[in-house]
Amino acid sequence: MPNSAASSAQPLREAWYYALAGKALSPGAMVAKKLLGEDIVLCRPRQGPAFALKDFCPHRGMPLRFGRFDGETIECCYHGWRFGSEGRCTKIPSLVDGQALDPAKIRTRSYPAIERQGGIWIYFGDDSTGAPPPPTAPSFAEDAAPSLYESMRFSCGIDHAVVGLMDPAHGPFVHEAWWWRGRNSAHEKAKAFAPSEFGFTMTRHRPSSNSAAYKILGGVPETEIVFRLPGVRIEHVAVGRHALVNLTAVTPIDERATEIHHSIFWTMPWLSVLRPILRPFARKFLAQDRDIMAKQQLGLTGDPTLMLIDDADTQAKWYYRLKREYAAARAEKRRFENPVKPRTLRWKS
Ligand code: FES
Ligand SMILES: [Fe+2]
Repeated sequence: MPNSAASSAQPLREAWYYALAGKALSPGAMVAKKLLGEDIVLCRPRQGPAFALKDFCPHRGMPLRFGRFDGETIECCYHGWRFGSEGRCTKIPSLVDGQALDPAKIRTRSYPAIERQGGIWIYFGDDSTGAPPPPTAPSFAEDAAPSLYESMRFSCGIDHAVVGLMDPAHGPFVHEAWWWRGRNSAHEKAKAFAPSEFGFTMTRHRPSSNSAAYKILGGVPETEIVFRLPGVRIEHVAVGRHALVNLTAVTPIDERATEIHHSIFWTMPWLSVLRPILRPFARKFLAQDRDIMAKQQLGLTGDPTLMLIDDADTQAKWYYRLKREYAAARAEKRRFENPVKPRTLRWKS
């Protein structure tokens, strides 16, 4: 990979990112978080949808997180100015009758927020029309909650996290385990890919027979894996009339940290019985990726030139191409042209 990636290593703007699990924000609560290098407060009013504001009081710069959220507005801890869901100032306590300042003309930035399927997504940019929409797990309702949710922080930028996520060749080395696949079971795979909305899809197929994890699903599973900008992977497994969806969302925290949000949805009631057993497996799997990313960072000081080889790294090449094209299309105010062409990729894993 020629290291022109340096300038494009910035996360994409004009995109929705998974910010927080909905259940982490109870009614009347406020949570402060850094996302894409920006300090944000997320609030869930006692009534109405969750909202997100810049964690900054426009009066004298106090972070709003030190204030109080009363279930409707945030009160800044310094001089008590209050801010509502649109970021508009609703009260300046020091004003006396006859002072003309209109608090409603003062605002802190607000971010569009959407809650769906147990996740709160925030839009970073100026115009969400024509942006890749926040994903939904297919086969599940908009208000469905994941059967299992895990998140983990990786100490790397978004690109390495996304590329690691779609990398088919690291499985036998990083995730080697009796319950997944052994490195000796590696064999040649051929998977058909096609362009899809803001990304590409590994079209529906029978998963490889060395994936022991699929066997516990029963029946003959068929899998489709969708990747979509800015960093979303949706794996849809159909087993007879049942479905299991892995929805992974990658969110940059800053240049050196990325959060992985992994939501699993399933329709099999018996799988829910196994949840206490499945959770540590999901965590272990994510931790293996986290640890390998941390080790990789040690080799990346000095911004070395890296390689992406065919076909094992072709999806990574597509990711960089998609990202460049999306940034260019937005900058030039033109339609996004998907650079991916239908193709069968072959690798051994
Ligand atoms: S700094 Fe927030 S009210 Fe003064
Ligand atoms: Fe992995």
